[in-house]
Amino acid sequence: RMYKRQTICRRDIDNLNVPFLAIYESLIPPEEEKVKQTQLLALLKKLVSKEWPEAQLYIYGSCANSFGVSKSDIDICLAIEEANMEKSDILMKLADILQSDNLQNVQALTRARVPIVKLMDPATGISCDICINNLLAVVNTKLLWDYAQIDARLRQLAFIIKHWAKSRGVNETYHGTLSSYAYVLMCIHFLQQRRPAILPCLQEMESTYSVKVDNVNCAYFDKVRTLADFGRPNKETIAQLVWGFFYYWAYCHDYANSVISVRTGSIISKREKDWTRRVGNDRHLICIEDPFEISHDLGRVVDKRSIKVLREEFERAADIMQYDPNPCVKLFEPY
Ligand code: GTP
Ligand code: MG
Repeated sequence: RMYKRQTICRRDIDNLNVPFLAIYESLIPPEEEKVKQTQLLALLKKLVSKEWPEAQLYIYGSCANSFGVSKSDIDICLAIEEANMEKSDILMKLADILQSDNLQNVQALTRARVPIVKLMDPATGISCDICINNLLAVVNTKLLWDYAQIDARLRQLAFIIKHWAKSRGVNETYHGTLSSYAYVLMCIHFLQQRRPAILPCLQEMESTYSVKVDNVNCAYFDKVRTLADFGRPNKETIAQLVWGFFYYWAYCHDYANSVISVRTGSIISKREKDWTRRVGNDRHLICIEDPFEISHDLGRVVDKRSIKVLREEFERAADIMQYDPNPCVKLFEPY
């Protein structure tokens, strides 16, 4: 089902820059939220270190990758070496430790796909999820953060795409649509593909940062301050990029054969990855390669029903960007 449309863009597209930037600005978390997050992290560190002096706590996910909108929950990773303890026992013990202080609704969810302790801090109103030893998530959080430092358009585009996905109900992995992490990777890949490119491929450059986590070598160029002018030659505006993003996923992406890969800064073939058929629950109907766990397709949650929903949403959004008199309202209408 590949069909091309005329690649025309509306003549008044750049009238949409101001309203899109206003939406972006309205989603940025205020400074006091950061302060509260830091306070909560300090409290948790204090409680955890009493029991496990060697353990570390890291913030990951949207509160640390710079793609978090206002009022996001925080994702925390407890890094701990407890050779003799089952993960579920660590979680139960952690829940116990935290329960004893003035935190609310502390719950250990030991049977979840990613087992966590959930809690709410009444002092700050912040909810948080704590997982154990998920250090790859800490490293991919840094990669996303580093990409965001290179060109301001990445953060703007990703905020708008995440806001669209949440408004349209297509940011729910348990319903077969994509995670926020997947959408941000789609945005990075899209900006790597512009000509001239707006983002480089950090993993193809000389590595200045390198760690080995769970037997995966994570290495890339992280001196991103030196890349502040990288995207300059490309003058595309945020409105053009939002339109281009939806247009790409509606009418240009080859769903049957292609995998998008931030790691290589290019499109690679499903055949090359052996992602051409269903294996277990992984259907590979939309393929987004994880930058470090390269056997991991972030589109694996998408099934026969939800791929249809997703593609219809991309087409709806592309058509709104093309024809609607007021895209900044229509695009985000609740489904
Ligand atoms: P919101 O909470 O929706 O604002 O976004 P988020 O950036 O926190 O994203 P999400 O909840 O999707 O994921 C949180 C973090 O978990 C991501 O930033 C990644 O670091 C990590 N993560 C999520 N899904 C995966 C996955 O399938 N594989 C890996 N390796 N990491 C993941
Ligand atoms: Mg999150």
